[in-house]
Amino acid sequence: MLPNHNPSETSAWQKLEMIFLTLQATHMRELFAEDPDRFKKFSLQFEDILIDYSKNIINEESLRLLLSLASEVELQNAILAMFRGEAINRTENRSVLHVALRNRSNTPVLVEGVDVMPEVNKVLDQVKSFSDRLISGAWKGYTGKAIKNIVNIGIGGSDLGPYMVTEALRPYWTSITPHFVSNVDGTHLAETVKKLDPETTLFIIASKTFTTQETMTNAESARAWFMEKTGGKGEVAKHFVAVSTNQKEVTKFGIAPENMFVFWDWVGGRYSLWSSIGLSIAATIGFDNFVQLLEGAHAMDNHFKNEPFEKNAPVILAMLGIWYNNFFGAASEAILPYDQYLHRFAAYFQQGNMESNGKSVDREGNPVTYQTGPIIWGEPGTNGQHAFYQLIHQGTKLIPCDFIAPAISHNPLSDHHEKLLSNYFAQAEALMNGKTLDEVETELSKAGMSKDEIAFHAPYRVFEGNRPSNSILLKKITPRALGSLIALYEHKIFVQGIVWNVFSFDQWGVELGKVLAKKILPELTSGGEVSSHDASTNGLINYFKRLKFS
Ligand code: F6P
Repeated sequence: MLPNHNPSETSAWQKLEMIFLTLQATHMRELFAEDPDRFKKFSLQFEDILIDYSKNIINEESLRLLLSLASEVELQNAILAMFRGEAINRTENRSVLHVALRNRSNTPVLVEGVDVMPEVNKVLDQVKSFSDRLISGAWKGYTGKAIKNIVNIGIGGSDLGPYMVTEALRPYWTSITPHFVSNVDGTHLAETVKKLDPETTLFIIASKTFTTQETMTNAESARAWFMEKTGGKGEVAKHFVAVSTNQKEVTKFGIAPENMFVFWDWVGGRYSLWSSIGLSIAATIGFDNFVQLLEGAHAMDNHFKNEPFEKNAPVILAMLGIWYNNFFGAASEAILPYDQYLHRFAAYFQQGNMESNGKSVDREGNPVTYQTGPIIWGEPGTNGQHAFYQLIHQGTKLIPCDFIAPAISHNPLSDHHEKLLSNYFAQAEALMNGKTLDEVETELSKAGMSKDEIAFHAPYRVFEGNRPSNSILLKKITPRALGSLIALYEHKIFVQGIVWNVFSFDQWGVELGKVLAKKILPELTSGGEVSSHDASTNGLINYFKRLKFS
């Protein structure tokens, strides 16, 4: 059972409100000037990943209080409850055990008294054998040719994780090229299969429930495309496999049981890339690299479970997020990777974070009286610099940023990487220091401006600074490092959910839209005007029908 505490009623929260008043009026420039050891005090290293959180509006006292808030809400008990396999996802009565999927030390993990590790390992063996056969060419299509392309059809957690990871690990790709189709917009499937040869293509239908409208529609259309292109001669068994918890629906679709890869209801959709949902990852980068990804995540799991809060990376990042979200009133957080391969990292954690902590009812069924999950967004640097950084630097909103960069590029072209990294270092520095009026005036005067000109131009060129960021610097984006990085953010989300006293592992909020869409679907093809909705929805549907049928 998870503990229940209203975080805003803890004594740490009250003290944080007090210290916030002082720190709110303090500039990080002063904090750095006062303490030459600030970087040493507010940074930590996990394997080769350095996390510098010194450019935050904190001092030792506020950090201590943030960590006592974590203690007061019994975070340690909650962490242990998750690792022990307790049914902490109470609204769905399920355990939350993505950590078991990457439990490389193989210690027993019990769900209702049964060790899940033998099953986990059995499926991993199946994933290994499948991906080995695909990569070696031993798996043949219906005309005897080896498979060259795989198309993962899934959505949400059954798409974003495998897509983000395969993109992040492109340098590790084997002979298999992955493609991803998620949107029910027919364009996504049509544009993807256009370039593919059905004889050398294999579809992976990835859906925990195997009932998701988008995925099932795409799967059926993919099968129809395959049959049409092969003149009815194609063998579905050689070109379609499924990843799901729902054996009945998979069989109904026509996929043979030996081509089905199972996982379990204790794996949340947005935490499923470590399960057989990672089949497209293993098939793309090879099973050994997939295991490295699991190993990296497992190492982070051990760190999270065992390290005291003051040395615990996910706990520290989570509590800093709470500091800005709940005390400074920051509504969003930006994730800004300085690595092109990580171009889907922010999108992945948009689901990870917003579907988990986008909640407003606490674990006792009461409306919360404080802010919960932030808006997550971001794009790779330096593209973002030429798009939205202006608002981060000089806008009216406080946006805490995570800058992520590898020291070594997989593509060391001339001085590209040094240029990229100089921007990575410069942005965090500029956000923190800003530029004072004095500095601007001196600069403009040196440039030869008159007094009047300076008076006009200076205010626009002042940067207030004091904008917080974390800098995450690692050696290289390897499967192991990526595994650790993903697990770091997953656990950050867990910690925040515990502190905000919400259930982070359900997603009832996405249901209403799904139900209404089902009701509207037949109305779009039936004749006559629609009048069963509000005036706006009726108006839109009827205009659509006029456009379509006129
Ligand atoms: O968006 C809701 C959701 O249930 C996600 O949590 C999940 O990742 C996605 O839909 C896909 O679900 P499934 O894997 O069952 O097709």
